[in-house]
Amino acid sequence: MSANVKKLINQGKNIKVFVCPDYETLSCEAAGVIAGVMLSNDFPVLGLATGSSPVGTYRELIRLYEDGILDFSRTTTFNLDEYYPLSPENDQSYHYFMDHNLFHFVNISKPAVHVPDGNAPDMKKASLEYEAMLSERVMHLQLLGIGGNGHIGFNEPAESFAKATHVVDLTQSTIEANARFFASIDDVPKQAISMGVGSIMRAKKILLVANGKAKAQAVKAALEGEITPKVPASALQMHPDVTFVIDEEACALDESLWTAF
Ligand code: GLP
Repeated sequence: MSANVKKLINQGKNIKVFVCPDYETLSCEAAGVIAGVMLSNDFPVLGLATGSSPVGTYRELIRLYEDGILDFSRTTTFNLDEYYPLSPENDQSYHYFMDHNLFHFVNISKPAVHVPDGNAPDMKKASLEYEAMLSERVMHLQLLGIGGNGHIGFNEPAESFAKATHVVDLTQSTIEANARFFASIDDVPKQAISMGVGSIMRAKKILLVANGKAKAQAVKAALEGEITPKVPASALQMHPDVTFVIDEEACALDESLWTAF
């Protein structure tokens, strides 16, 4: 743990927050939490996330693997989501992202890697099959980013929390936020397949990473706001073991609600 990291706990909700001075520190701290879970389980099962926020975390995990500290040969992974329709070969797909930001650089076995199929002929069937695979395992840790509107995975603000893997219509704000990864906004798929909030909440431990001031309001609403499906990440307040690793810009907490630990 870096001396510069501020550790806070919201005692009423049992959520821990590590506030890091910069993205590099955040990435090391988050990778450290994941490494701890990997080292304390013989057959670790990890839920993984995409987006720009966890890129540094994956870079750090690769470094720990190269240094001989981590071994991925017994690790199984399940990714949160995938665009629909998009083939796994498409360089904007989350399949491609995971291969090029983690899987190609560690000794994970291909059959142990699971990413929802964004190209299935029957997406309802694909959702049910993915959820069935998830329900056979206990995820030791689920890594999350957070959308500017409080979405986790691709669970957009809604009238109720989605229980299971499902097909979602992306909101305009998510399409606009993610357009930076595509040639043009018209290329951003309008739908996705995503684990439900219920699927995420079954993980034993949840780790959320967020950086930059564009995430400050979503982080605050998730941690301190009302628990509501209008802010999907607010469901995490009901989970017994949640850690947020965020940078100072993403931190806009009401200091009076938090104490150091
Ligand atoms: C996408 C992903 C989310 C991710 C979010 C934020 O919508 N489906 O899992 O958390 O983007 O991405 P970024 O980290 O790039 O801000």
